[in-house]
Amino acid sequence: MPEASKRSVGITCDDTGKRKSQKAFRVDKCKILLSERSSNCKFESLKLALIIVTCCTILTLAFSPIMSKEQQLRPGSRTRLADVARMWQTTLPDPRYISQLDVDWGLMSSVLEDVKAKEGDLRIGLLNFNSSEVEFWRRTLPHAEFSSVHLDYADPSITWKVLYPEWIDEEGEYDVPACPYLPQPQDKKGSRYDLIAAKLPCDRSGSWSRDVARLHLQLAAAKLAASASAGRSQVHVLLVTDCLPVPNLFGCRDLARHQGNLWLYKPETAALQEKLRLPIGSCELAIPFEAKVRMYTEVGRREAYATILHSAEQYVCGAIAAAKSIRLAGSVRDLVILVDGTISERERSGLEDAGWKVRTIQRIRNPKAKRDAYNEWNYSKFRLWQLTDYDKIIFIDADLLVLRNIDFLFAMPEISAIGNNATLFNSGVMVIEPSNCTFQLLMEHIDEITSYNGGDQGYLNEIFTWWHRIPKHTNFLKHFWAGDTAKRKARKDRLFGADPPVLYVVHYLGLKPWLCFRDYDCNWDLQMFWGFASDAAHATWWKVHDALSENLQRFCLLQTKTKAFLEYNRRQAAKANFPDGHWRRNISDPRLHICDEKFCSWERMLLNWGETNSSNASS
Ligand SMILES: *[C@@H]1O[C@H](CO)[C@@H](O)[C@H](O)[C@H]1NC(C)=O
Ligand SMILES: *[C@@H]1O[C@H](CO)[C@@H](O)[C@H](O)[C@H]1NC(C)=O
Ligand SMILES: *[C@@H]1O[C@H](CO)[C@@H](O)[C@H](O)[C@H]1NC(C)=O
Ligand SMILES: *[C@@H]1O[C@H](CO)[C@@H](O)[C@H](O)[C@H]1NC(C)=O
Ligand SMILES: *[C@@H]1O[C@H](CO)[C@@H](O)[C@H](O)[C@H]1NC(C)=O
Ligand SMILES: *[C@@H]1O[C@H](CO)[C@@H](O)[C@H](O)[C@H]1NC(C)=O
Repeated sequence: MPEASKRSVGITCDDTGKRKSQKAFRVDKCKILLSERSSNCKFESLKLALIIVTCCTILTLAFSPIMSKEQQLRPGSRTRLADVARMWQTTLPDPRYISQLDVDWGLMSSVLEDVKAKEGDLRIGLLNFNSSEVEFWRRTLPHAEFSSVHLDYADPSITWKVLYPEWIDEEGEYDVPACPYLPQPQDKKGSRYDLIAAKLPCDRSGSWSRDVARLHLQLAAAKLAASASAGRSQVHVLLVTDCLPVPNLFGCRDLARHQGNLWLYKPETAALQEKLRLPIGSCELAIPFEAKVRMYTEVGRREAYATILHSAEQYVCGAIAAAKSIRLAGSVRDLVILVDGTISERERSGLEDAGWKVRTIQRIRNPKAKRDAYNEWNYSKFRLWQLTDYDKIIFIDADLLVLRNIDFLFAMPEISAIGNNATLFNSGVMVIEPSNCTFQLLMEHIDEITSYNGGDQGYLNEIFTWWHRIPKHTNFLKHFWAGDTAKRKARKDRLFGADPPVLYVVHYLGLKPWLCFRDYDCNWDLQMFWGFASDAAHATWWKVHDALSENLQRFCLLQTKTKAFLEYNRRQAAKANFPDGHWRRNISDPRLHICDEKFCSWERMLLNWGETNSSNASS
């Protein structure tokens, strides 16, 4: 069991020691590791120290006045040297960083009214303003003290795809994933500011929300704000841009004023510092390594698991099983379920019995969806942000099971999720931070943003482009790729069936286990769904089902039309002689014979579908 969990975590000190690659080592991480398990890390720390010493010597010799202490600690020696070299050459601005936007200095003066009212002279750090703009700054605030903070440009090889790779080697089988290095702002050590102002590019003709220079500048502004506020009263951050700043770095709750293209924030320094400790993209796991070892145990009164049922009674059983699984995994956090009017009183009481606190919501229509489309109401998920009696929510889809406690995810910021495809995250399990103004933000863009799949996942990915990767074992999709080898498939099946569990969460894609007979995964009977078929995962779900009280199991009965549908598919599979042979099995699931509807003859229903009586599912 500890062995298994280590595999799934993938990164522990011992593991890292075995690896050849050194590039993943970041100083702060090693510190954590060192303090936790000093003996295993000794060797690593020696090597690391050696690298640091070597780099530092080279750098200090060559460019000693420029390097700040922080950068000297960076071990990525070759790129660092290149950066430093470029710093000397560069005089021309990098087009990626240029913003053509004209600043309205009158408006600026009024937006800064509150900041100006502070006692004493203001100290202002400027990032990415050109010389004429700096001159305007001086004229606008004649008593302030300005410094233009130097920021090296990001290496051109760093694209958004590099920051957000589709796949990373989470378990470190071949290599330790590492994010590339983005240069840090170079302010004098101990500089203090009252205001950090940064001008951000925003190319609306391109993918402005997935723009490396834009993110880099915002991270630099955050870094300056987090480190430069020491001893002073609250530091402000002013972003000059036409487009929405990264909403989970500079949150709307911290937005003090917003006029035109001026966004004035009053961020919480501690929160910024936390966010700056995250990897810059999904190029590394964001999970604090030690969090997996040391279970997050504090009692979180303002933390809850949440899910949502909209226009989908069929998921009631799924949600009941999901709640049971969370409790079986040992979490005692609140469970909140958002339901709309389509869920009956009886079903609500079932959900409550299962442990969910039921809240009724108005559905939210996707204005771009077709009427009655399957995803017409998927934007209802935004209502999660209205659960403001909680600070953190782990959202889970209703079609998954929690096999091992994932409370440690409450330590993660918005939005933490697993990768989906391309640069996107999967919204099946995600950590969010409820906030009325974030909800407002999501609603404001509803007519403008197009979701690539018409669902909430596509939409949320447009707003939260800066997301944080958690291990895929925390939302393991029940899915096999057509190209998976038999060995790979067998390995996945072992994961689905492992007892004690290895996976934290199994996400049941395809036909849901409670809508199949318990005898086998009915995805086998539809060729289109073979990629979702796993008897091992199916059996795992049924174990949770069997742990439900008899009363709750009643919410998992099959409707007549579902029975007919299943038998229909089984017969088609028989006719096509599918090689897996599941269709040969006799159905022993007692639910076949239990019916609480008026019309119970699934056989007759089948006849209407052009099927004869001859072969029969019942044993
Ligand atoms: C600074 O930027 C502004 C806005 O794009 C531009 O109008 C101005 O010419 C620039 N000044 C210099 C010296 O580059
Ligand atoms: C992957 O993501 C892109 C958006 O970048 C989307 O258009 C595409 O349909 C996605 N593919 C799959 C298989 O989901
Ligand atoms: C958010 O809005 C709701 C009403 O829509 C209100 O009841 C709640 O108190 C608000 N939460 C906060 C934290 O302001
Ligand atoms: C929309 O919601 C339905 C029901 O919850 C779900 O089955 C479907 O996968 C969702 N679609 C998208 C595109 O998110
Ligand atoms: C299914 O049941 C029938 C009749 O009860 C029996 O003849 C047959 O052998 C059974 N098939 C399997 C695969 O158990
Ligand atoms: C089909 O089978 C059911 C019982 O399994 C029987 O009541 C019905 O009469 C049969 N119908 C036909 C058309 O054979």
